[in-house]
Amino acid sequence: MSQVFPKKLDGVLRIGCFITALMFLFVLLTLIGLTRSSWVTGENRFTEQPIPFSHRHHAGELQIDCRYCHTSVETSAQAGLPPTETCMTCHSQLYTQDEVTAPIRRSWTEDKPIRWKRVIELPDFVYFAHNVHVNNGVACTECHGRVDRMPLMSQAHHYTMGWCLECHKDPARRLRPEEEVFSPEWSPPDHQQREEIAEFLMKKYDVELSRLTECSSCHR
Ligand code: HEC
Ligand code: HEC
Ligand code: HEC
Ligand code: HEC
Ligand code: HEC
Repeated sequence: MSQVFPKKLDGVLRIGCFITALMFLFVLLTLIGLTRSSWVTGENRFTEQPIPFSHRHHAGELQIDCRYCHTSVETSAQAGLPPTETCMTCHSQLYTQDEVTAPIRRSWTEDKPIRWKRVIELPDFVYFAHNVHVNNGVACTECHGRVDRMPLMSQAHHYTMGWCLECHKDPARRLRPEEEVFSPEWSPPDHQQREEIAEFLMKKYDVELSRLTECSSCHR
């Protein structure tokens, strides 16, 4: 049989095929990686705000309670964002000459609210409520991460259906006693106690497992 290409070229072609296959694999892996990456899910991405507000300073170092600013978190679906008045309780005296806090004073004197941009936003077809979680032992940091360490707010998780369900299927070990819901840090003393506390809290909050995985709980 006569060869179409000279022997030497055959080797080159083979290497060519090999490289093409490698490149294909690379592109495929990149695409798979990309759909799961934080770039798509928004995890750890910072949102530019009108004022670079630091939770690390305010909730971490100064230990201001979450509820001081997010006043409706125990009573309604929304946690709520603080009005300028809340900032002014301190910033009418503190940092009154600084450029970083100028937008607070401007908002106050012009009587125009500060336009905070939302960091986390679920699609409209999902029902979520803060009060049911917070009043049943689910701590802020379970869902928002260590905000007390965040100089700027970022998404601690990708808030997908899978993420919600991971807890809804088995929430026992992620519940806290009610007095620990707002503290950034809490862990039960040891493993034995963790299991006992988990069981105790499931009874105490009367958590109904079957309802938590029903479609209609979150899609109403
Ligand atoms: C002194 C006021 C103040 C305190 C205290 C405070 N926050 Fe905030 N929080 C804000 C402001 C202002 C924003 C909007 C700007 C931003 O996103 O950083 C915000 C935004 C957030 C967001 C992002 C919401 C979104 O989707 O846009 C989360 C989550 C949050 N806070 C959680 C907490 C938790 C948890 C605590 C307690 C550990 C806490 N905050 C304490 C003022 C406060
Ligand atoms: C309970 C008092 C208190 C409240 C309420 C408060 N702050 Fe502050 N803020 C402080 C103190 C104290 C500092 C100085 C922190 C430092 O430098 O360690 C500060 C610092 C700042 C700074 C300077 C940059 C930084 O983080 O060091 C900005 C900006 C700021 N606050 C914005 C806000 C905004 C916006 C609000 C309202 C949502 C607010 N603060 C509510 C006490 C408060
Ligand atoms: C079970 C998970 C979970 C817990 C617990 C939780 N959050 Fe949230 N939070 C979310 C989700 C999801 C969103 C986005 C809601 C949306 O887009 O409708 C959100 C949004 C927010 C927002 C912005 C929008 C709003 O509701 O006003 C703030 C502020 C906030 N959370 C603060 C808190 C604080 C403070 C706590 C604890 C007291 C807390 N969250 C506990 C999951 C949680
Ligand atoms: C614990 C809350 C929760 C439960 C229970 C739940 N979902 Fe979802 N679902 C979500 C959230 C959050 C999203 C939006 C984020 C996302 O797309 O992952 C979503 C998105 C979806 C979507 C949009 C497609 C997609 O993947 O983006 C469909 C379809 C859906 N859910 C169907 C269902 C069905 C069917 C059930 C019951 C078997 C169910 N869900 C139960 C929270 C829930
Ligand atoms: C860390 C655990 C945890 C995570 C994460 C979580 N939940 Fe929940 N959720 C709970 C617990 C615990 C309850 C309350 C059970 C009860 O009422 O006894 C609850 C209750 C609910 C309810 C009320 C159900 C009903 O009909 O009573 C809704 C709606 C809900 N969750 C939506 C969501 C959505 C949407 C997400 C994701 C964005 C989410 N949850 C993430 C633990 C969690």
